[in-house]
Amino acid sequence: MIKTGIIGGSGYTGGELIRILLQHPQAEIDFVYSTTRAGKKVASAHPDLTGETEMEFTGGVNLDIDVVFVCLGHGNSIQFLGDHQFSANTKIIDLSNDFRLQKDAALGGKQFVYGLPELNKEDIQRANRIANPGCFATAIQLALLPLAKANRLGRDVHINALTGSTGAGVRPSETTHFSWRNNNVSWYKPFTHQHLGEIGESLRSLQEDVGELLFLPIRGNFTRGIFATCYTHFSGSEAAAKELYQKFYADAVFTQMAEAPIHLKQVVNTNQCHIHVHKHNDTLLITSAIDNLLKGASGQAVQNMNLMFGLEETMGLRLKAGVY
Ligand SMILES: NC(=O)c1ccc[n+]([C@@H]2O[C@H](COP(=O)([O-])OP(=O)(O)OC[C@H]3O[C@@H](n4cnc5c(N)ncnc54)[C@H](OP(=O)(O)O)[C@@H]3O)[C@@H](O)[C@H]2O)c1
Repeated sequence: MIKTGIIGGSGYTGGELIRILLQHPQAEIDFVYSTTRAGKKVASAHPDLTGETEMEFTGGVNLDIDVVFVCLGHGNSIQFLGDHQFSANTKIIDLSNDFRLQKDAALGGKQFVYGLPELNKEDIQRANRIANPGCFATAIQLALLPLAKANRLGRDVHINALTGSTGAGVRPSETTHFSWRNNNVSWYKPFTHQHLGEIGESLRSLQEDVGELLFLPIRGNFTRGIFATCYTHFSGSEAAAKELYQKFYADAVFTQMAEAPIHLKQVVNTNQCHIHVHKHNDTLLITSAIDNLLKGASGQAVQNMNLMFGLEETMGLRLKAGVY
């Protein structure tokens, strides 16, 4: 069994990791570290786990663990890993922004690999450290990578993506307050969202001359999921576009091409990304949908763990959508 540790255990991505790892046939949870809840039951922060585990949060970590998942906010990860020197045998999967860009991808002389399996599977299989992609970044890259691979991303790429409130983490804020968020919709960080950096790096690794990525993030009136619509100029037929996507994702276990237009609930509570393409005149519309806490975070982190340890990629991740 692979011994795992979780840092930031009372947060949303930490909670999702606990739920997945409790069911994983080849992994066990050695510790769930918390700065605020040491000694308290894990179920005190995640009440759905009542009766599923008697584990308590710890105030210390096992530095010789097989793999550690770091589920801290941006800036806190790099500080935590600087303060805690894990053994050379410990694999690290970090869920924050801290190591995703090429300029940030090293710590103590050791390199982080960008953990998007649809782009970097072989590097992930050899990696000891993973920078797990952002949630918007996952949905948007999966929508655009096949076009970039074929050198067919148009000059301007327009992206609108709606996110659920769990994307903002467990700590309440003005825009996650029920009275504000419910029956409401709003955009934020227009054209400047921090995930543009990692999206741009991945796309440029496949197509040199990527133009402007015009990304408008939108707060949705729901708790989980990302629904992204991207459109750009495309000169071929819809059938040619579909073929290009099908070829790119032929071996992808968690990215599926949908025949019919997609909706969010078909992927919520799963590690799947569903993609649909539609052509209108010279414009190609690509829609992608993921669960931000699974394919956009903790599910993808376990997918990466499976690849790093030579396990079947889907192990522990055959989950059930909450369609109705
Ligand atoms: N939410 C998403 O959809 C999503 C998707 C992809 C990536 N991510 C990234 O994953 C990381 C974790 O996200 P999350 O949504 O799980 O966040 P979260 O719900 O806010 O949880 C983060 C946890 O970190 C711990 N923590 C330790 N030191 C902290 C500090 N100085 N300030 C705040 N929290 C501190 C806290 O747990 P303890 O009190 O138990 O220590 C907190 O509950 C972030 O970097 C986020 O950007 C999130």
